[in-house]
Amino acid sequence: MRILITNIAALCQTEAADTTPIRRVAGTAMSSIPTVNDAWLVIDNGIIHSYGSMKSMPEMTADETIDATGRMVLPAWCDSHTHLVFAAPRDGEFVDRIKGVSYEEIARRGGGILNSADKLNAMDEGLLYEQSLQRLHKVMSQGTGAIEIKSGYGLTLEGELKMLRVIRKLREAVNIPVKASFLAAHAYPRAYRDNKEAYVDLIINKMLPVVAAEGLADYMDVFCEQGFFGIPETERLLEAGWKYGMKPKIHANQLHHSGGVQTGVKHNALSVDHLECVGDAEIEALKGSQTMPVLLPGAAFFLGITYQPARRIIDAGLPVCLATDYNPGSCPSGNVPLLLSIACTQLKMTPEEAINAVTINGAAAMELEDKMGTIKHGKLGNIIITEKIPSLAYIPYDYGNMPVHRLIC
Ligand code: NIG
Ligand code: FE
Repeated sequence: MRILITNIAALCQTEAADTTPIRRVAGTAMSSIPTVNDAWLVIDNGIIHSYGSMKSMPEMTADETIDATGRMVLPAWCDSHTHLVFAAPRDGEFVDRIKGVSYEEIARRGGGILNSADKLNAMDEGLLYEQSLQRLHKVMSQGTGAIEIKSGYGLTLEGELKMLRVIRKLREAVNIPVKASFLAAHAYPRAYRDNKEAYVDLIINKMLPVVAAEGLADYMDVFCEQGFFGIPETERLLEAGWKYGMKPKIHANQLHHSGGVQTGVKHNALSVDHLECVGDAEIEALKGSQTMPVLLPGAAFFLGITYQPARRIIDAGLPVCLATDYNPGSCPSGNVPLLLSIACTQLKMTPEEAINAVTINGAAAMELEDKMGTIKHGKLGNIIITEKIPSLAYIPYDYGNMPVHRLIC
């Protein structure tokens, strides 16, 4: 199946075939989106075949030809941090927070993640899958062309396996890359409240071996935070994950300067995610490391907490990745165009920086930089055709609306 797209007003985020592959972009390089105006693009059996300027388009035939006059084409969004598999919304807690109860207080009262775990453990796997597939199709219609999904609402061996099996079925059901992270260390179940070490033991000795043996997860995640999993517990868990080749991708520095970023870097995490609480020490730790800082401003927006210091991180020469954190508690939206609007208006990222953060850097945060993130010969043809829009900046500018006309994948 060959798809030819012609008259593309701007083909964005292109990468030449014969140059050193771009693995991620950092610092000032984040300001640039290489673009071919008035372009054509060929996707052959799902793989980017060739592209160029309309002035020099060779004679060719295709099974489907799309006239993209007035539209832009860019690589599909790579959303590297979601909790898209969940059983029920938490709109009641949303109202409690409006009335002044904090996210941490709700968690202390046994709501929050434990609330989601109760619902998930009670739900039939088939229904959980159906609901999750609907969410996945929705975010794909909003331009997401690769996604990472976490477990972490099971908190029991059965519940965690149920979630990870659902993620595996989702991967088989859609034509986009789906990565899985094992996040049993998301909260302490009620039964372990007074014996936290026993829960860490359970994860390491009972859950991890099964998850690894069944090949159910790519990455090891921990909610490293005061009141959740501290540094010593996080270190034990990350070391245990590494024994099975599961790289860390951790929740860090959401609510406090907890040392999570430094711990992630020390354990060669692929990414450290959230980063609302980041200062000089965290930035210094990230410099010289390969660990990707992943910012989740949708969660800061929804919880009404301080935004991540994206400018300081970029101005320090580091890369920034953006992801949605789609989950029922802190960010019930997987809408990447809306995320881009928040990143531009609140984190003061330019549209180009924000788009780099959710394309090539999003791909890197899931080890998909060889397959996704730029328009390059040989990469997957997972691309977005936009509505008729005047500029790249119009995508975050037109906030709350949907600039995506079609996702091809
Ligand atoms: O990334 N911070 C921890 N985990 C999720 C929220 C989970 C929940 O509240 O259900 C997050 O924000
Ligand atoms: Fe999260």
